Amino acid sequence: MSPLEFAILALTFVISLSIVWNSLRVGITPVPSSKKARQTILQAAEAAAAEGAILELGCGWGHLALLLAQKYPHRQVIGYEVSLFPWLFSLLLKRLRRADNLLLLKRNFLGSELPPAALAICYLHPGGMTKLAKKLREERPQIDMLISNTFALPDREPLQIYRLKDIYKSPIYVYRLTEESDVKK
Ligand SMILES: C[S@@+](CC[C@H](N)C(=O)[O-])C[C@H]1O[C@@H](n2cnc3c(N)ncnc32)[C@H](O)[C@@H]1O
Repeated sequence: MSPLEFAILALTFVISLSIVWNSLRVGITPVPSSKKARQTILQAAEAAAAEGAILELGCGWGHLALLLAQKYPHRQVIGYEVSLFPWLFSLLLKRLRRADNLLLLKRNFLGSELPPAALAICYLHPGGMTKLAKKLREERPQIDMLISNTFALPDREPLQIYRLKDIYKSPIYVYRLTEESDVKK
């Protein structure tokens, strides 16, 4: 094996190990939303206020965050991601596409104070949604709307549910977080 082959193999091993470790920590791999899901999320996002920041809670490799930053060049888009290599890749994407309005934070959003925002977007897992619901209940960040790919908030009624035209008819949930009446009794 040449030194170059060895270096590539070692790097692949380190990246895979880091991704597996972080996925075990947060309960989900950095699998990106499908193209259909991304299109539907962008469509659903149009119902949010026309001004204000957009947060992506767990932005993975940054594809959706970049689309949002390109669609809304005059708005701040902030992505949170805990996994090192997906985050580094998203920084590269941001640099290549010159998305100056995109801020990518290597940070656990659950332990962060979320800034006021018109919209937050996530694609987590049931446990992650339970933790997010608790954070929203206890900290009451000023976020008007939440769009969640596939997984529902356990304690709120969605304003709308889109169904993707895929084999699972995957749901995309839209919540108004400012409406107390949407909190399940
Ligand atoms: C299924 S991926 C979705 C990626 C992207 N949002 C998309 O839709 O294409 C979920 C991502 O959320 C990240 N994540 C999960 N919990 C997190 C947390 N508490 N803080 C920051 N990132 C988190 C994971 O590391 C993973 O990269």
